[in-house]
Amino acid sequence: MANKQKALEEAKRIIGYIENDELTKEDKDRIVKDSISNFNENVNPGWLEYRKSVSTDAAFIEWTDSAENFEDLYGTQFIDCLGGFGIYTCGHRNPEIVKTLKAQLDKYCLHSQELVDPLRGYLANLMAMITPGDLQYCFFTNGGAEATEMALKLARLATGGKWYISTIGAFHGKSMGAISVGGKGAYREDYLPILQSVQHVEFGNAEAMETAIKNLLTVGETVAGVIIEPVQGEAGVIIPPKGYLKAVREICDKYNVAMICDEIQTGMGRCGTMWRVEFEDVVPDIMTYGKAFGGGVMPITGIIARPKMWTQKLIDNPWILGSPTFGGNPLACSAAIATIKYMLENDIPKQCKEKGDYFMEKLDVLMKKYPTVIKAVRGAGLLICMEFPEAEVGYEVVKGLFARKVMTAGTLVNAKTVRIEPPGVIEYKTIDIVIERLDEALADAKAAFKL
Ligand SMILES: Cc1ncc(COP(=O)(O)O)c(C=O)c1O
Repeated sequence: MANKQKALEEAKRIIGYIENDELTKEDKDRIVKDSISNFNENVNPGWLEYRKSVSTDAAFIEWTDSAENFEDLYGTQFIDCLGGFGIYTCGHRNPEIVKTLKAQLDKYCLHSQELVDPLRGYLANLMAMITPGDLQYCFFTNGGAEATEMALKLARLATGGKWYISTIGAFHGKSMGAISVGGKGAYREDYLPILQSVQHVEFGNAEAMETAIKNLLTVGETVAGVIIEPVQGEAGVIIPPKGYLKAVREICDKYNVAMICDEIQTGMGRCGTMWRVEFEDVVPDIMTYGKAFGGGVMPITGIIARPKMWTQKLIDNPWILGSPTFGGNPLACSAAIATIKYMLENDIPKQCKEKGDYFMEKLDVLMKKYPTVIKAVRGAGLLICMEFPEAEVGYEVVKGLFARKVMTAGTLVNAKTVRIEPPGVIEYKTIDIVIERLDEALADAKAAFKL
């Protein structure tokens, strides 16, 4: 039932919390209580059960962050090795990126939709400079799934083909188009029938990709594009055999099919090069990006495409691909521009590579020490994954890490593989601390499961 007076009073109280730097103990206790009740009553009761940070009557409530850490309301620090699944490559609240964003905030925030917004153009131009080959035209969106939608639509527009080939285990977001090309049953089943013209083939198997395209063409169908993550993230950091991307590139050229590479998680330095496709010297026809692109400060994602994808029809009808109200807004663009500058000045991709190698060496030692607990470790730069014999074991380990104030991915339902994605700016001494705490958590799990 509408209660506008109560809503006004509530809004004032909440704004007081946001604007006040010094909350009392009473305020903090109230926020904890409110948060549990608000999530249960107005968000989704399921969320809290799912989180490592919640017991029935208490919760760690995030309140501030900086560099490598999240801090809760009471000042408890958590080393962030979850990294928002790859958002915080430049660290939390990177001061240089925040400075640029604040300067833009003091000018104007969102675009008029009529006057020319210069930051969109500047950012697109920078993207053409930092992406491989002749990738040139950008379209900015707000979330990863939205970028996937644009890539799928553009592939059809540009090639006239209809079908898509994707891979088993793939993750490209959770909108209708994105789950259609997603490779996990759990995210698709409830929504079937979705986009019908999609075939899924084994990841890492270029021959299977070619067979799928050939078979479709043989029976009179047409193929718009193939979509792949250069390293599958959600599936548990699956690194394809060397040469895979190159082989897919050749297949796409042979059959005139658009090659879409989803660099939303792997890109912007995460895997040790600015883009993972650089690792194989491959230029996709369409590339999606997101996550770290907004510097861990603003949500911004997008696609970049080669000129041959930007057809005359799209130039004549620029609205035909999409026209998201907030896509490429000045605040988000300012953050992305500052992010690019920071990444280039501080060689963040190289930092990810070197720190990733360091992390992997230490994880290898732990795997040898606990061979019955850790089944495998894999990584590309700072996109790292530990694999456990069972999800329950993985969950015990990540809970143990959480109790020791280290956040990693891994939830009740998917902890068989656990991702570690710390900020690229993480210090070596922090990696050592994480490894020490992981050693303890592994010992506990070994004892608990009698492994
Ligand atoms: C490779 C990849 N593509 C797409 C997405 C979807 O991004 P978003 O959650 O912003 O929609 C993700 C998110 O994890 C991703 O890892």
